[in-house]
Amino acid sequence: MGVEQIRARAHAKVNLHLGVGQARADGYHELVTIFQSLSLHDELELKVLSKRAPKHGSVIDTLTLSGQAKGVPDDEDNLVWQAVDKLVAAYRAEGIGQLPMVELHLRKGIPVAGGMAGGSADAAAALRVTQAWLSEHADPLPESVLESIAAELGSDVPFTLHGGTMLGTGRGENLIPVMSRGHYHWVLAVSAAGLSTPEVFHKLDQLRESGRELPAHTDTTVLSRSLLNGDVAAVAANLVNDLQAPAISLRPGLRQILAAGEEAGALRGIVSGSGPTCAFLCRDAAHAAEVAGELIDSGLVIAAHPAQGPAEGAHVVPETF
Ligand code: C5P
Repeated sequence: MGVEQIRARAHAKVNLHLGVGQARADGYHELVTIFQSLSLHDELELKVLSKRAPKHGSVIDTLTLSGQAKGVPDDEDNLVWQAVDKLVAAYRAEGIGQLPMVELHLRKGIPVAGGMAGGSADAAAALRVTQAWLSEHADPLPESVLESIAAELGSDVPFTLHGGTMLGTGRGENLIPVMSRGHYHWVLAVSAAGLSTPEVFHKLDQLRESGRELPAHTDTTVLSRSLLNGDVAAVAANLVNDLQAPAISLRPGLRQILAAGEEAGALRGIVSGSGPTCAFLCRDAAHAAEVAGELIDSGLVIAAHPAQGPAEGAHVVPETF
């Protein structure tokens, strides 16, 4: 039967640049974004059971959760569940024989509904563990199949599958690598309650309709050059997030958090993705630890995690937990 237990790591992301255009006919917004994956991660374990799965339908027996998993579904509403089902269906279409049931366990380390693509990264990790399992029993499906399933699952899933530093266009799913030198040290300041991504995009549309001057930032030239040079101060100066204004409009307290991190000495603070997590770029690991301590002392956030980027995309890891 081969490997009985497979574990993968799902890395969070921050958008160094998030330019948001108009809403499209399909409801999505045209993006120009530069993603960076971060060391902060979730872990997903797949365990093969001895009982057989039905010929059609899900192979998942149970999905259990641990860590900071409040509000995360443990059924087919979870993208992890959908990712496994979709890749299994693709293998079944190629004629793989009857499969056993599996058990999944997801350990959350990435803030939930925090603008860090935690759910998307979990889905990418689910594709990796399922691929590692099924490619032992059939001709491996090519990476392009995983990529197209990733894009169906969500706009951030393709990036979280690859990791590193990448430019995303379209909904964020069309990716090309960005050259980046060095390591970046962040502090991720977590708020007690999450924000809904669709609501933040919708708020941006409303603010623009009401006449607020909120242009779509589509030029990443200066940031790209700063990344290529590994110039952390220039990267800090050129961080852009078009979703920051609507996130602050929905959650005015974010303004104080951003100010507190910058007063604590961070080079720059921005809202991460659709928020409410705030990401602070720091000079080095010691500086990040200092800023994290001050943010915790401020009482404005429930956690402040130091993290480094760029990290890998979702990948299988050898040990068990
Ligand atoms: O693709 P995903 O399911 O992660 O997107 C969640 C929601 O975020 C979408 O339903 C949409 O409201 C919003 N979104 C958007 N434009 C994008 C990506 C996401 O409007 N490019």
